[in-house]
Amino acid sequence: MNDRSTLLEIRNLDVSFFLDEGTVEAVQDVSLEIYHHYTLGIVGESGCGKSVLSQAIMRIVPPPGKICAGQIIFHGDSAPTDLVTLDGKGKSIRKIRGKEIALILQEPMAALSPLYTIGNQIRDALVQHHKLSGREARERVLDILSEVGIPKPEVRIDQYPFELSGGLRQRAVIAMAIVCRPQLLIADEPTTALDVTIQAQILSLFKRLKETLNISIIFISHDLAVISEIADEVAVMYNGRIVEQGPADKVFSEPLHPYTVGLIESVPKLGDASKERLSAIKGNVPDPFMRMKGCSFHPRCPIGRDDCTMENPKLTNVLPERAVACFVVEQEMTGTAGPQQNAVE
Ligand SMILES: Nc1ncnc2c1ncn2[C@@H]1O[C@H](COP(=O)(O)OP(=O)(O)OP(=O)(O)O)[C@@H](O)[C@H]1O
Ligand SMILES: [Mg+2]
Repeated sequence: MNDRSTLLEIRNLDVSFFLDEGTVEAVQDVSLEIYHHYTLGIVGESGCGKSVLSQAIMRIVPPPGKICAGQIIFHGDSAPTDLVTLDGKGKSIRKIRGKEIALILQEPMAALSPLYTIGNQIRDALVQHHKLSGREARERVLDILSEVGIPKPEVRIDQYPFELSGGLRQRAVIAMAIVCRPQLLIADEPTTALDVTIQAQILSLFKRLKETLNISIIFISHDLAVISEIADEVAVMYNGRIVEQGPADKVFSEPLHPYTVGLIESVPKLGDASKERLSAIKGNVPDPFMRMKGCSFHPRCPIGRDDCTMENPKLTNVLPERAVACFVVEQEMTGTAGPQQNAVE
């Protein structure tokens, strides 16, 4: 059971990259709440801003990227802190990063150096935050290797990443992330590079760790099946914004936003004997440099109206625990005014 007390609050977050070719508004007006002992799944097509959002929480957005607006309030061990106000290279964020909030990077090989044994790399992550003798650190690394299901930890601890299979390497990366017992673990596409059987094992590992370590997880994936397997709640992103949010079972069984509907319909179903063509969402994700007036899904939307181009729909609660950013759905479900009427007010 989730106790529904808040661990992390993101409010109206904007992150942009200022490039010579133009500005990419990678994350726009994102608000999210992450509770204790809870898994939030973030899903969306490539380039929609999932990784940049996780970089913003860790305060590692690379230049020329910048957090331009918003707050990221972390209710960790000390008093609630707005991470956006901290110096990105300062002592305060370094105390939180890796220790209280850990990130598993999208590329497992980027997280591991080929030059050091996995034992040394996990130990380095540990000793950054804890004073331990060499022997204590080795004991702790052996424990964590067994905790993430790496067989024969006393052998594996002295091996290099290239000596491990993809699945074991991903377990080593997870070990490195949880060795300091973070309260929040952000996993950016942690199963994408793995085949489906290994993927299932890694998903079970995340579920087990959530229970045994009593942590919260932000699980990022473009794969709906993976998100539906692991998440309590899901946020669907499109072009930098959250377009739908709600309990995972409800969002997958009754999607509200036309983009979520399209995503679900474009997933092949095993055992579906019909020879019908899979439906695809027409068109492409917008050019990241293009500033669009109104709803950015409008050019691809099967239910869009002319007035959807007037302003950007805000994420609005249309049912208990269900929010959607779509004028048409909002109007259908709540009878409220569309953008035209709003504009007149
Ligand atoms: N370092 C960077 N410099 C310039 N633009 C960037 C940088 N990182 C991300 N972007 C841009 O920000 C937008 C969001 O990128 P992001 O990596 O967050 O997407 P994503 O949802 O994680 O995609 P994927 O599923 O492919 O990992 C994209 O338009 C991307 O080109
Ligand atoms: Mg990414």
